[in-house]
Amino acid sequence: MKVVDTAFAKSFFRMCGDGFYQGWHERNGGNLSYRLKEDEIREIWDDLNFESGRQYDIGTFVPTLAGEFFMVTGSGKYMRNIPDAPEENVCIVKLDASGVRYQIVWGLTNGGKPTSELPSHLMNLEVCKRRDPNIRVVYHAHPANIIALTYLLPLDGEIFTREIFEMATECPVVFPKGIGVVPWMVPGGKDIAVATSKIMEEQDFAVWAHHGAFACGTDFDMAFGLMHTVEKAAEVLIKVMSVTDKKRQTISPRNFRALNAPFGIDIDERFLYDKKSNVIGER
Ligand code: 13P
Ligand code: ZN
Repeated sequence: MKVVDTAFAKSFFRMCGDGFYQGWHERNGGNLSYRLKEDEIREIWDDLNFESGRQYDIGTFVPTLAGEFFMVTGSGKYMRNIPDAPEENVCIVKLDASGVRYQIVWGLTNGGKPTSELPSHLMNLEVCKRRDPNIRVVYHAHPANIIALTYLLPLDGEIFTREIFEMATECPVVFPKGIGVVPWMVPGGKDIAVATSKIMEEQDFAVWAHHGAFACGTDFDMAFGLMHTVEKAAEVLIKVMSVTDKKRQTISPRNFRALNAPFGIDIDERFLYDKKSNVIGER
């Protein structure tokens, strides 16, 4: 089967367009990766090309993913163009037996290389696979409200989570383990990948200060839906903060705890600290 005709590839390409229309992918901003299943690799085998044999360094070390195949967006490519021209803007890479190098086996027909955030994608996919082998999608986007909050709130995962949780009752239901925050770092390398994957060892979402965010998921809907949920809550928070720095009323720790049993979740208590102040961003 042709790669472009598979269900996973169609979902991948569609999500790139969806993210663009949300306004999360100016120019070449953002990138997406997917860890293929074995039956999907078998399905597309005849459409893959191993002839060049050329191997490139990932820029980090992901031994748990050795030998696996990933669909990833190309560096400098525009998410907007992917639904109409996927083979030019996306590739499939195969990792070598030690998890340090990759070969391009499909796509990027006009040349190019995988996203500059490949180290972060693969390190995140590796730690996610260790905690849940069903997690296959890692998504990086530049949503404006999440980025704006990184200028306003302390760069502290507990405070970010609590303030986001208070903006929509669905948030703790969708991500009861909360979100982490990476301080400003140089993008596109191993250091930021290590910092992000530390968060992803336990949580599904990492904010990159003054840059964007990373979400993971078991499928494209889960990763996109998580980005969408956090960004929507961030938008509400920005609207509230545009009017006042204080909340008149909000969802209380007791209210949050009342969600646990009916929704079958266990909201991490570290986000449910008692606040001494109603000023947004203060504990
Ligand atoms: P790429 O074009 O290399 O994917 O980079 C975009 C980006 O968002 C970097 O953080
Ligand atoms: Zn980015």
